[in-house]
Amino acid sequence: MITFNEKEKTFLLTNNSISLFIYINANKHLETVYFGKASKDISLENNRKKYEDNYSTCYFDHSTNKDMVTLDGASNHFSRFELATHSVGDHRPAPIIIQKKDGNYETAFEYVSHRIYKGYPHYEENPHAHDGNIETLEITLKDEFDEKLIAKYNISIDLDKDIIVKNIEFKNQGEEQVKILRALSMELDLEDNNYVVHHFRGKWGRERGEVTNPIIDGEQIIASNYGRSSHEENPFIFLAKQGADYSTGEVIGLNIIYSGNFKCSIFSDYANKSRITYGLNDYNFCWLLSKNETFITPQAVICYSENGIDHMSQTMHRFVKENVITYKKDNEYKPILFNSWEGSEMSFNTESIIAYIDDSIKIGSELFVLDDGWFSYRNDDTTSLGDWWVNKDKIDLDKVIKHCHKNNLKFGIWFEPEMISYESELYKNHPEYAVGYTRNKQALQRHQFLLDMCNDEAVNNIYLQMKKVIDEYDIDYIKWDHNRDLKETFIPHLGNDRQGEVTHRLVLGYYKLIERLTKEYPNIMFEGCASGGGRFDLGTLYYCPQIWASDNSRPASRMFIQYNTSLGYPLSCIGSHVNASEQSSYTTKAYLSLFGTYGYEMNPNYLSNEEKEELNFVANIYKEYHKELFEEGILYHLASPTEKDYMSMQVVNKDATKSALIVTINEFKTHFKTTIKLKGLSKDKNYLIITKDSQKEVSGKSLLEKGLDISIDNPNNLEVNSYFALIKQV
Ligand code: GLA
Repeated sequence: MITFNEKEKTFLLTNNSISLFIYINANKHLETVYFGKASKDISLENNRKKYEDNYSTCYFDHSTNKDMVTLDGASNHFSRFELATHSVGDHRPAPIIIQKKDGNYETAFEYVSHRIYKGYPHYEENPHAHDGNIETLEITLKDEFDEKLIAKYNISIDLDKDIIVKNIEFKNQGEEQVKILRALSMELDLEDNNYVVHHFRGKWGRERGEVTNPIIDGEQIIASNYGRSSHEENPFIFLAKQGADYSTGEVIGLNIIYSGNFKCSIFSDYANKSRITYGLNDYNFCWLLSKNETFITPQAVICYSENGIDHMSQTMHRFVKENVITYKKDNEYKPILFNSWEGSEMSFNTESIIAYIDDSIKIGSELFVLDDGWFSYRNDDTTSLGDWWVNKDKIDLDKVIKHCHKNNLKFGIWFEPEMISYESELYKNHPEYAVGYTRNKQALQRHQFLLDMCNDEAVNNIYLQMKKVIDEYDIDYIKWDHNRDLKETFIPHLGNDRQGEVTHRLVLGYYKLIERLTKEYPNIMFEGCASGGGRFDLGTLYYCPQIWASDNSRPASRMFIQYNTSLGYPLSCIGSHVNASEQSSYTTKAYLSLFGTYGYEMNPNYLSNEEKEELNFVANIYKEYHKELFEEGILYHLASPTEKDYMSMQVVNKDATKSALIVTINEFKTHFKTTIKLKGLSKDKNYLIITKDSQKEVSGKSLLEKGLDISIDNPNNLEVNSYFALIKQV
């Protein structure tokens, strides 16, 4: 519910679980009076004393009964703002900086009007939050230094889950062009800095390693300027109050519905308060806004939990499933995927692929994906990106697809649409389609350049080529890859005053193409990928219900990648496959893969009958339980591999009658023992604990309070071993 108190000039956004309380001060600037768990005592009157003393630029004059502005403006730099000003007294990082025609950097948006409506704001061209029981407060503001510069600050609250979504739309109604130098999507000023920041750093093959640090004095920036959301930092971040754990304490989750350069700034000042601003990275950023033009920032997502990390994480999962993913069949059963990449890379022909398909069926596969190497002259990674025609000399695609469909397998194929190889027909005919083509020393990465996604003609060229393949063949799935980050950023056709728009325009070009294709082919499931998990973000999830999490499927790394990724994203979108690595048994790898999308990539012809049996055993668990437990169930994080020498997760179905538990040891051990307290089960019911070779009945009370004794042997001297149990109410 969102209400406006005319007398106090306050907005209250609340869903009875969390509340955000905003005040339009006497300067007409927006201040945050309160943000946190729902509180009945958040009237301005009741909070006025604390508020005036600690946060506000304004004070209430009891003799005149009026709101007043502090004369020297000194409190500007410690007030708690909802949308701070820049360069007019507040010395902390501001969310918005706009330079006016006269050169002035001063930016101060003041209240003009507001409206409250049902639902999220809707955008045609940007991925955005949608559906749900939502109310939005749209506050129209104008810049004090250019009143023709209008901003709409959208603040939406989910009435059924603890999510607040913010973004800003700018409109230039004046004659003069302005320069947007920074346009972040949200600000959140907190009362103190007593939080631990959790963010997810990495590199290729090591995506989303969890890093924690207390809020530092000064500014900490968590960002990507790689042109994609990146392996190096993920846009999902959370702040946990000192002392908070998985089930208790205040936790604030943050994310952004965007796939390119992002920046989250966490600033702590001399008074030990903190300011979080989050949105588009302003690295090399400058957007010219001319008369009547609009600029829309991506939506930033704030999730508030007063019950620890798991409540935040479970809420984020629901948000992704209910309000981000648009794939219309997301609620249907997802087939087990077999991908050809690790097994054969680009060395294959029709016969070898058919032999793969035949053996993949024996391990329960339901969707066969032909990865890189099927098009043009592509036999290694030096050529052909941009030439999307089937190499009929290499592969009889029609025969392969018919073979799949005859055997009840769906068929999928790999594309890397936003790239162009130096060795390609497309580059020969259109070198100008490659970003940075004017440069003598172009930095090739994997022998390829970024395609100029700001060039509509180039985007349309790729669209038509892809469409031809999709229309000609019966394709059920597309893996959409992106194997190079941003190195050159000069795009001459944009003109010399628009080079600050390049990075964002490239992302908008990606959205334009994928939006067009997903709309035109709603039955095709798209999976995101970027050299493994280099573009694991909400912008991509809007189009692709799942994303390949990492090129590293070795279980010793995977347990970290999947556990950490699942703190911010649902298991059902975390692409995870069993491969042929020798660190563990196939059973261990398959159990781990269940806590994700489940699939395979290896040469299936090399599997022994015993290994096929092992995999089939787990594939059957997937088929029976994936939807109810792993996709729609509630996920609990029981032990972080970053903190302990093992990893443990548990999923529980909605009525607490079924559950699955995994424990994976993250260090070589000859024998391992521990006791783990389970979550989410009914205290007054009994449960059967079913492992591959044992079964026992234990009371829910004991599982929750005393815990389950786990013991893992390592008879084959393997590096990684695990325990897995299905848990069923008796
Ligand atoms: C990337 C992907 C892999 C595979 C290769 C193909 O590295 O992450 O899964 O598709 O490209 O070139």
